Amino acid sequence: MAQAEQSLKGRKILLIVGGGIAAYKSLDLVRRLRERGAHVRAVLTAAGRQFITPLSLASLTGNPVHEDLFSLTDETEMGHIELSRSADLIVVAPATADLMAKAANGLANDLASTLLLATDKKILLAPAMNVRMWHHPATTRNAARLRADGALFIGPADGEMACGEFGAGRMSEPLEIVDAVTQALQSETWIPLPATAAQNGSVLRGRRVVITSGPTHEPIDPVRYIANRSSGRQGHAIAQAAARAGAHVTLISGPVSIPDPVGVEMRKVETAQDMLAAVEAAMPADIFIAAAAVADWRVEGVGASKLKKGSGAGPSFKLIENPDILAHVSSLSAGRPALVVGFAAETDHLLDNARAKLARKGCDLIVANDVSTGTDVMGGTSNTVHLVSQDGVESWPLLDKDEVARRLVSKCAELLVEKTS
Ligand code: CTP
Repeated sequence: MAQAEQSLKGRKILLIVGGGIAAYKSLDLVRRLRERGAHVRAVLTAAGRQFITPLSLASLTGNPVHEDLFSLTDETEMGHIELSRSADLIVVAPATADLMAKAANGLANDLASTLLLATDKKILLAPAMNVRMWHHPATTRNAARLRADGALFIGPADGEMACGEFGAGRMSEPLEIVDAVTQALQSETWIPLPATAAQNGSVLRGRRVVITSGPTHEPIDPVRYIANRSSGRQGHAIAQAAARAGAHVTLISGPVSIPDPVGVEMRKVETAQDMLAAVEAAMPADIFIAAAAVADWRVEGVGASKLKKGSGAGPSFKLIENPDILAHVSSLSAGRPALVVGFAAETDHLLDNARAKLARKGCDLIVANDVSTGTDVMGGTSNTVHLVSQDGVESWPLLDKDEVARRLVSKCAELLVEKTS
């Protein structure tokens, strides 16, 4: 057991083993944690006991295994409240759909769920279940709620499952879980901080990213509105790329006709004011990316009746300025995302205007693009962008919007590492 680096020396892990075929991997997980110097106590659920025995867990952890909420012996040795708090981190592996549902809803009808409710420590979940169960709206909801409550996730991975199906739902491998444990214990706030672009996937895993996309529609009357040509393609592509990199993404979109990205939480809005409210509700986040083409103005005093022609002169409107969502998020004194990224759609003096916008809006990075006639950027599928920050300008060649998104997400991961390490 002495070969691995003692990166978890003295750290106390409470491992909850749920009922799934992946429970066999948890035995290896215990070995890997102990090799790194961690003390491991294990809790085995009744369903978990169908897959592995308390004896194997006790032998590998070197500690008694806890199974019963009402065990007098356990309670005299170490009460369940103390058990839930004496650890540095609680790891649930495999985290079954049932355990997640209980934890998300605050149920406490067995030892595992009671510990999850009673703890004051971070919880890291390694989900394992059938792909349909993982993608079921109930599980998606439960995972989102757990994340919002501060739980960390590792996996699940894609792959072939014991049930013969293929897809997301395999429990992450023991060494990946060990890696997540190490990072969860290192970081006061959120997960990992490796330092190279090659590891960006793990940098963003479990991070919260809030993105705005698309145009806003500002009503003139109940049937008419002011809009712009934004298709939402760039913002949606960024959301997809961030979700693929393992981030927990909330995409706040104005009205668009493109499909929702897979695996992100969607918030659909109409107006700039709705968008601001949705952004505020989605905070806190590690990264905020304002890719929406927010209308600068709205019509004052929109009434409930349709405007009628006939009086000769057309109607006149008073336009009032909309809230600037990017500037608002950049200036948050409490809970400002570590990285705030804005876009600058310009027709003239691209870089000068982008630099001015960076300063005016107080963000960390501006993605500037030329939207003058003939560039096909607004509503089109490709984009030439320049990244403008305090450190200077980085220009990218003409790329399709998916590639811009992929590179931008990678860049954000790098900047996040710089800002938080
Ligand atoms: N933005 C925002 N809220 C607004 C207006 C803009 O969040 N009410 C964000 C956009 O999402 C983008 C950035 O600010 O990330 C710049 O948007 P842009 O329309 O280029 O700039 P404006 O603020 O409208 O400035 P100007 O009209 O001078 O170009």
